[in-house]
Amino acid sequence: MARGAMRWGIVGYGWVARDHMAPGIRAAGGIVSAVADPSARSRARAADDGVAVFADVGAMLASGLCDLVYVATPNDAHLAPVRACAAAGVPVLCEKPIGATLEQAEAMADAVAGPLLYGTAFDQRHHPAHVALAQAIAEGAIGRVVAMRIVYACWVDPGWTPDGTAHDNWRADPARAGGGAVIDLALHGLDLAERLLGEPLVGLSIALQRRIHAYPVDDGGMLTGRTGSGVLFQSHVAYNCAEVLPRRRLEVLGERGLLVATDTMGQTAGGTLVRRCAAGGPREALAFDAGTTPFAAQAAAFMRAARGGAHDFSMLRDLALMRLFDRAYTEARRWL
Ligand SMILES: NC(=O)c1ccc[n+]([C@@H]2O[C@H](COP(=O)([O-])OP(=O)(O)OC[C@H]3O[C@@H](n4cnc5c(N)ncnc54)[C@H](O)[C@@H]3O)[C@@H](O)[C@H]2O)c1
Repeated sequence: MARGAMRWGIVGYGWVARDHMAPGIRAAGGIVSAVADPSARSRARAADDGVAVFADVGAMLASGLCDLVYVATPNDAHLAPVRACAAAGVPVLCEKPIGATLEQAEAMADAVAGPLLYGTAFDQRHHPAHVALAQAIAEGAIGRVVAMRIVYACWVDPGWTPDGTAHDNWRADPARAGGGAVIDLALHGLDLAERLLGEPLVGLSIALQRRIHAYPVDDGGMLTGRTGSGVLFQSHVAYNCAEVLPRRRLEVLGERGLLVATDTMGQTAGGTLVRRCAAGGPREALAFDAGTTPFAAQAAAFMRAARGGAHDFSMLRDLALMRLFDRAYTEARRWL
């Protein structure tokens, strides 16, 4: 592995790659050296950003420009580039969900089995506020944990575009996305629950709605579950919540207090983290690095892992979560 700054190739230079991960890579000291994307428009935007561009991942890998690869294609197009990286022996960080279907996720797990470094890009676990939250829980700041509750919602209508320009809204296409709001948003919270609580979820059920938007996928969902030791989990995710409303909140209730993270879930840095004590008293603000985005922290973590440092990326664990999720989502869609 290179000793100097690490060079990243990006497969799929759309919204999240261009606006969030590429800046995160640079903020973490990495270099975005190459982009593979079949869209001439996305390649032109990458070329404007000073990056070598390729129409397909094979050519990008053959260029020798990439120490690491980040995959940010629509959900049903994750598998092929990850397979190509695995065949080339290049560590690969792939956006969530692992695939649009459980079959794609299982095939990806087969492709990366072995010593190759693979990570699913659950960037929320790297958000400095969530790292501080995990530490507070582990240090007993609220005693034994009772429940975790999440609201993570936004507005995605059929013509949604991230930047006001024409956009291919694959999120409303069941085959390309694998579902709607729930597959897009809920896995972040499920992964966070396992990271913050330090144990896997063992049960999960989902109620779905198609309430506001005229597309064939769910525009909202309510998830409930529990961990093996008995912590309850609840998460409301939605594409039908106006962006100006309060819509990003994470609470962890314990026998001795409540931890509340507001406006931390999402792509940006900052937000607030407070502790309320069960014995009363003022709210206590917990400090965290409010200048580092979850994407910068994620890029730093993946580069550390690629250099042989300790890390928390695990396909086996991510696949187990995807299996749990898929069972509940498949059942829920029968009633949609
Ligand atoms: N972690 C997060 O907060 C977060 C946020 C947004 C999106 N995402 C995930 O990132 C991925 C991309 O989402 P987006 O909103 O950036 O989508 P997007 O539509 O804005 O961009 C997708 C890009 O992939 C390209 N592409 C399509 N098929 C391709 C292929 N076969 N090979 C290479 N490139 C291909 C498109 O041309 C486009 O440039 C999705 O999996 C999504 O779930 C994660």
